Amino acid sequence: MRAITVTPDQRLELGEVPDPAPGHGEVVVDVAAAGVNRADLLQRAGHYPPPPGASDVIGLEISGTVRSVGEGVTGWQVGDRVCALLAGGGYAERTVVPAGQLLPAPSRLDLVDAAALPEALCTAWSNLVDVGRLSAGETVLVHGGSGGVGSVAIQLGRALGARVLTTARGTERAARCEELGADVAIDYRGDVPAAVAEATDGRGVDVVLDVLGAGGLADNTTMLATGGRLVVIGTQRGRRAELDLLSLMAKRASVHGTTLRSRPLEEKARIVAAVREHVWPMLEDGRVRAVVHQRLPLADAQRAHELLDSGEVFGKLLLVTG
Ligand SMILES: NC(=O)c1ccc[n+]([C@@H]2O[C@H](COP(=O)([O-])OP(=O)(O)OC[C@H]3O[C@@H](n4cnc5c(N)ncnc54)[C@H](OP(=O)(O)O)[C@@H]3O)[C@@H](O)[C@H]2O)c1
Repeated sequence: MRAITVTPDQRLELGEVPDPAPGHGEVVVDVAAAGVNRADLLQRAGHYPPPPGASDVIGLEISGTVRSVGEGVTGWQVGDRVCALLAGGGYAERTVVPAGQLLPAPSRLDLVDAAALPEALCTAWSNLVDVGRLSAGETVLVHGGSGGVGSVAIQLGRALGARVLTTARGTERAARCEELGADVAIDYRGDVPAAVAEATDGRGVDVVLDVLGAGGLADNTTMLATGGRLVVIGTQRGRRAELDLLSLMAKRASVHGTTLRSRPLEEKARIVAAVREHVWPMLEDGRVRAVVHQRLPLADAQRAHELLDSGEVFGKLLLVTG
């Protein structure tokens, strides 16, 4: 089959790789589209190797049609329209998926656009709800509301009944975050802690969903309310920083870090099942929607990475196989 491979000078090109076969508990999907994630750029550059056993083809999520079903799989049949969370293998014509990581393609959505959902929604759900324990009436700050994860985290936070503050670069991107349901969108080139203090009457936020890491740690802990939870999912501004433990103790606040890709299959299956139970109804009734910036042909994966790197993408890029 055709799939995207990485050249020795770290460029993406279309090549031939062996066809995948489903193992026990797995299905093979004919890929309609693959979502492009920031982590894919790191993998291309050699900084984010696939976990043991995962395909070395880049790509953390797809949509498509079930082509074959392995032994021990129940509940899925050849021809089912699906989307799926992957540890790798998405930038290809076909991919193998553990059955626990499959979701039915939402009926309201074009099959291609369904590829924008699994990674972002599983990340947003597991970090806002499981880790962040966000509940109705609380306030959440979503960093990077203009991003693939952030654009659905805004909608999810709102659908959960929280007040949603978010950050993005510039007033135009911030305004688009408000169109998605953010109550307050802040241009991160300004004074974010001051804007958050003003928006919360000095109280701070209950949960921060952070994509910045080290460079944002001091501000993020400052912006937490008493009992607040900082959930770090990205290190776009570094991985090592000092933490003022006394200020954390005084607020009875906590700092968490998670990754989705490296989790054991059972944990991913549990997250996918929770997303199917709780978030899929929100997609069906329109409270949450996919935010797709652009579709590109699979062969243009390199251009998609350059586009994502340019900072001009709002939401998700999709690579389409057809
Ligand atoms: N831990 C996990 O399991 C997990 C899972 C998925 C993703 N992630 C991580 O989460 C992050 C977002 O992923 P993604 O796929 O959504 O990437 P993306 O689409 O490229 O989004 C990146 C976001 O970061 C924002 N950003 C950049 N600098 C910022 C700053 N100084 N202050 C506030 N926001 C800033 C960008 O805002 P502008 O575009 O407006 O500048 C953009 O919204 C990445 O670091 C990714 O690796 C982690």
